[in-house]
Amino acid sequence: MARFPKPPEGSWTEHYPELGTDPVSYEDSISPEFYEKERRAIFKRAWLNVGRTEQVPRKGSYFTKELKVASTSIIVVRTTSGEVKAYHNICRHRGNKLVWNDMPLEETSGVCRQFTCKYHAWRYDLDGNLTFVQQEGEFFNLDKSRYGLVPVHCEVWEGFIFVNFAKEPEQSLREFLGPMITALEGYPFDKMTSRFYYRSEVKANWKLYMDAFQEFYHAPVLHANQSPTAYSKAAAEAGFEAPHYRIEGPHRLVSTSGVRAWEMADEMRKPIEDICQSGLFGPWDKPDLGEMPPGLNPAKCDPWGLDSFQLFPNFVILFWGQGWYLTYHYWPTSYNTHLFEGTVYFPQPRTPRERIAQELAAVSFKEYGLQDANTLEATQSMIESRVLDDFLLCDQEVLIRHLHKETAAWVEDYERKTAGV
Ligand code: FES
Ligand SMILES: [Fe+2]
Repeated sequence: MARFPKPPEGSWTEHYPELGTDPVSYEDSISPEFYEKERRAIFKRAWLNVGRTEQVPRKGSYFTKELKVASTSIIVVRTTSGEVKAYHNICRHRGNKLVWNDMPLEETSGVCRQFTCKYHAWRYDLDGNLTFVQQEGEFFNLDKSRYGLVPVHCEVWEGFIFVNFAKEPEQSLREFLGPMITALEGYPFDKMTSRFYYRSEVKANWKLYMDAFQEFYHAPVLHANQSPTAYSKAAAEAGFEAPHYRIEGPHRLVSTSGVRAWEMADEMRKPIEDICQSGLFGPWDKPDLGEMPPGLNPAKCDPWGLDSFQLFPNFVILFWGQGWYLTYHYWPTSYNTHLFEGTVYFPQPRTPRERIAQELAAVSFKEYGLQDANTLEATQSMIESRVLDDFLLCDQEVLIRHLHKETAAWVEDYERKTAGV
């Protein structure tokens, strides 16, 4: 807490001297060898968010998650006792993928009382116990109690389901999240059940897309054609700067003040925004969500725009001042590709007008996101040329320094531990 809030003097970056101010290398985003290290050092050791408890609302509800970065597929299920558990999605007989629908490599979800393998019909209950073997007498000394599904460490925080592929996680989920994230407890996540989801394959390293969403330096330029000209010009001239950055452990936060769309001059809005009373910043009608948790809006902005919490390694929760939130996931699929997932959450709409306002916010958000992704593919293709190896970061890009430094630190820590030093 010593570093909070910003000191009266100096830049944000100077406030975190361990980050330095030198140009940075992007070798960590173009090297296949480094990517293999990240998989072992980070994605098989850190807590990874794979979804929310609303996706498994009742006993027997399940979903699968394909996690190429960890070379596995998992099943997340609500058990008979109401717990959420996770297993590797592999049958103990001859290794078939246990749960899938028509396409073996696609994710699926549903409700069941047990999992039955499609190959020879072995069955497992919701707690992962092997309960039935076809023609069991044909096997030799088979002790079913030793052949349950392989569990994955799974913990839930505020309805967010996290898994950890380490044999023994080095920290509990709460310890890993730390005080900056746990100060979000009490946000009404469980009331935000109107959900919009999209995913996209992006031909860029996963960290490049995280970088795009942890600075707003680009916003008035890259998104200029999407905002009415008067607005983006004004934002560029004002030298938009976030009022608050914070780094704690492996996680980061950026907070910005807001604009009240309906108070802006008419020419700054698109006609559809007036018709639907909504836009990128969310529906104009703000739902009453009650008191906000202490961890939100740390700079006490009024109006407050948004807080973007970047949870290491690849998960973002972004809260909008207008009373909704969204999440981003960046799942690496190779050193220069990843799967991006965006999920937008609102309270249940009470009227068609509210529903349409939510839809406009969701599609505006998707349009902006895809515009960012487009640029990343252009960036990835050129940094891979290795023509340049030092890139300049300004003070508004302080969080980018931290992500790359933290990534390197996890890799170094892992190499030190596995070298037995
Ligand atoms: S592989 Fe699953 S029952 Fe044979
Ligand atoms: Fe952007």
